[in-house]
Amino acid sequence: MCGIVGYLGARQAYPILIKGLHRLEYRGYDSAGIALISDGGILNLYKSKGKVADLERFAEAKDTSGTVGIAHTRWATHGEPNDLNAHPHYSQSRSLALIHNGIIENYAVLRLELESKGYTFRSNTDTEVIVYLVEYIRDTDGVDLCTAVQLALQQVVGAYAIAILSKDDPDCIIAARKSSPLVVGIGEDEFFLASDATPIVEYTDRVVYLDDGEIAVLRRGEPLRVVDLHNAPVTPVVRRLAMNLSQLEKGGYPHFMLKEIYEQPQTLLNCIRGRINIEGTSVVLSGIIDNRERILSARRIIIVACGTSWHAALIGEHLIEDLCRIPVEVEYASEFRYRNPVILPDDIVIAISQSGETADTLAAVELAKSRGAFIYGICNVVGSSIARATDSGSYIHVGPEIGVASTKAFTGQVTVLSMLALTLAHEKGTVTDERFTALVRELQHIPDHITQVLKQAPAIADLAKTFTYARNFIYLGRGYNYPAALEGALKLKEISYIHAEGYPAAEMKHGPIALIDAEMPVVAIATTDSIYEKTISNIQEIKARQGKIIAIVTEGDTAVRSIADHVIPVPRVAEPFAPILASIPLQLLAYYIAVHKGRDVDQPRNLAKSVTVE
Ligand code: G6P
Repeated sequence: MCGIVGYLGARQAYPILIKGLHRLEYRGYDSAGIALISDGGILNLYKSKGKVADLERFAEAKDTSGTVGIAHTRWATHGEPNDLNAHPHYSQSRSLALIHNGIIENYAVLRLELESKGYTFRSNTDTEVIVYLVEYIRDTDGVDLCTAVQLALQQVVGAYAIAILSKDDPDCIIAARKSSPLVVGIGEDEFFLASDATPIVEYTDRVVYLDDGEIAVLRRGEPLRVVDLHNAPVTPVVRRLAMNLSQLEKGGYPHFMLKEIYEQPQTLLNCIRGRINIEGTSVVLSGIIDNRERILSARRIIIVACGTSWHAALIGEHLIEDLCRIPVEVEYASEFRYRNPVILPDDIVIAISQSGETADTLAAVELAKSRGAFIYGICNVVGSSIARATDSGSYIHVGPEIGVASTKAFTGQVTVLSMLALTLAHEKGTVTDERFTALVRELQHIPDHITQVLKQAPAIADLAKTFTYARNFIYLGRGYNYPAALEGALKLKEISYIHAEGYPAAEMKHGPIALIDAEMPVVAIATTDSIYEKTISNIQEIKARQGKIIAIVTEGDTAVRSIADHVIPVPRVAEPFAPILASIPLQLLAYYIAVHKGRDVDQPRNLAKSVTVE
């Protein structure tokens, strides 16, 4: 979703801002723009529909000089994606330029008020009202820019991360945040600003994450100043970034998604490192151990998440109920937050989010917190809003995920949920020592098993060619593998734009089986587990109606092989870990179908990596 970059220092800002915009492309966007105060003191603003490369072409012959500037990638909410609605937006007199992530909910009222005072708006965005309002307050109240921003934001309802430049104050950028992330990078006599750390990492590892209601004043020659909306000073906490540049590059792979699929043996090792001992006899998640009493006394666990993280949550439900005997409910964060849910003080709410910035998940966390629940976060991005809003938690430690379609974060989330369930089960005594040790040892070997599965990539790429022209797909699974079927279908939809649905295999006969004919590919996850025989019956029902079956089976399987049109074998593992292994071929299948169709795999249309608006 929208991305912000800013620079103020001794270097030319334009190349830094453009590179920063490229780094943020993964978030998903449909237009881009830049504002610079030129060496001659002019506030130049260039913007364009399309990609950052289109903006570069547009700005080619123009004055891009200047050592201070702000830049933006926009994911349209209010107003279609076109040049006019792209950010930055000028104020009425063109003395200010502003970029914004988020949604201003009362923009219509503010716009009417400003129009009644003679202001004329140029775009259809909610954003433009902020910059007009700031200018109006600055000019009518005769206050400085920072005060005008504070007064304007006191009138604004909604979510925002903003950055603002003034022609009359060329040595300053003012930035503010509420419910939309913003990071300030601190270099030697220079500042960087961004909506996440990716554009900053190559220049400095010293960052300050702004909190809600904070305003950062980046002024040449002065240290970073942070104040709140009422001008009370806030002491900025400088943190060290753990990320490195190579994690943000493709490293020889054609797409980030493929790189991230191949990284999984390593990312899962990183995820379990220091948590499972070498002998495979203990699992320690410090977030659980530090809050042992509170978590062990939970009568119910509610897991909130969106998208792929919600699929991981469904696997978490199986794991926790199966191993710990604690009732679990899984909720879409967007539904949970608006339906007056029953949340009891002895509930534990687990929030799962790769980015740690998903607006609905963050709001669900705030709601559960306000009702007294204990909140546990499972996030990837260190220092993200959800990670900071929770009482405790575990990072998945899989490194930056750049491909919009989540892969390594999903398997990392399921791995953390597995460790969480094992830790709780051990503490509660709900698994025998034998089962506990067997499962922990199996989990240790999952990275090696993934390496084995990845060797089938060329065969899966070939198989993908056969199905490139399919218009629909059905994915089936049961038990632990049902969420893996949902996730497989989501991967295909996201990047190939082929319609795909995931179902619990036995539900087929209650409707969806009507869709089956010789044109319908059905991906069936049929690994050898406690309901293997039942799954085979469900596959027979598809076969009897000429459906084309691609089956994920356990190595050595013969029964499914004799019915399916194509099989992809995966190593035998304990049932709770089957969905991790089953997801790898499904990621590859979606990837290769999308590549064969010529899709933009890393930045699929209409999608955003980090959904910071509800
Ligand atoms: C977006 C992304 C998905 C992701 C979902 C939840 O839709 O495109 O890949 O699963 O948001 O994101 P989160 O960062 O909260 O896991």
